[in-house]
Amino acid sequence: MTVDGIRVSREWLALREPADAAARAADLVEHLGRALPATGLRVIHDLGGGTGAMGRWLAPVLPGPQHWVVHDRDRDLLKVAVTDPPGAAADGAAVSVEAQHTDIARLHPGDLAAASLITASALLDLLTEKELAGLVTVCAGPGCPVLLTLSVVGRVEVSPADPMDRRVAAAFDAHQRRTTERGRLLGPDAVALAIEEFGRLGAEALVRPSPWRLGALQADLAAEWFAGWAGAACEQQVELVAETDAYRRRRLAEATAGKLTITVDHADLLVLPRRTPSISPR
Ligand SMILES: C[S@@+](CC[C@H](N)C(=O)[O-])C[C@H]1O[C@@H](n2cnc3c(N)ncnc32)[C@H](O)[C@@H]1O
Repeated sequence: MTVDGIRVSREWLALREPADAAARAADLVEHLGRALPATGLRVIHDLGGGTGAMGRWLAPVLPGPQHWVVHDRDRDLLKVAVTDPPGAAADGAAVSVEAQHTDIARLHPGDLAAASLITASALLDLLTEKELAGLVTVCAGPGCPVLLTLSVVGRVEVSPADPMDRRVAAAFDAHQRRTTERGRLLGPDAVALAIEEFGRLGAEALVRPSPWRLGALQADLAAEWFAGWAGAACEQQVELVAETDAYRRRRLAEATAGKLTITVDHADLLVLPRRTPSISPR
């Protein structure tokens, strides 16, 4: 995970890409397909798009020609978005991609005016309340569908359970909501706030669960996730460093050996434009 200058690595994004693809709510894509223009080039802006995983997942299941604009503040990640582009559209139409070095917190209503679709994935929980409200206004501006996937909601289940799991989970959630120089991060509160902000603009969000379900086949991701989860908890509550030492070593070994089943709950949101008039910013 990343915020405040701490970067997300390519390796982490590559490791999670298959689990993300399996977790995303496929039925929202059916709703989305019906809401897109029937003909013509679809211009899709992917905000905080990193290495472009959203396009690699979504472009091949949508019909019609598409041009993806991947926005991120990390130039290294953006290079991958261009060198590893999505495949052709569902009907074989061409899909192109460009990268834009963007601080999405500085986008203005109107910047994405020509968008046919706006997407973001694993992003909302990294924002502050002010940044999210600004982002919702920017997304609502063009009156196009908005697909916001894989936002954490603060529920994690590790099986078999350990008495220490709950304490680590609580400290991790507090870490997600920590105060930074940009303000307090939303963490698990982001989904509810996004729904509220879109609602304020007269737009309704369809909400679906999109959990990661990690077992023996995803042991590498499970181990990496556990190390980051427990590490963030210890950063938040320093007394946990000593108190969880044996727990962390034991659980990491279990995760690495594929002996844990881990469910990390997320939510996907699809916001569809009203027919007429389209969503208008505040
Ligand atoms: C957890 S990663 C998800 C990347 C990608 N959406 C995916 O699902 O693979 C979050 C991404 O948001 C980007 N990001 C966070 N804050 C940003 C900002 N203010 N402006 C642009 N990009 C930002 C990070 O650089 C990172 O690539």
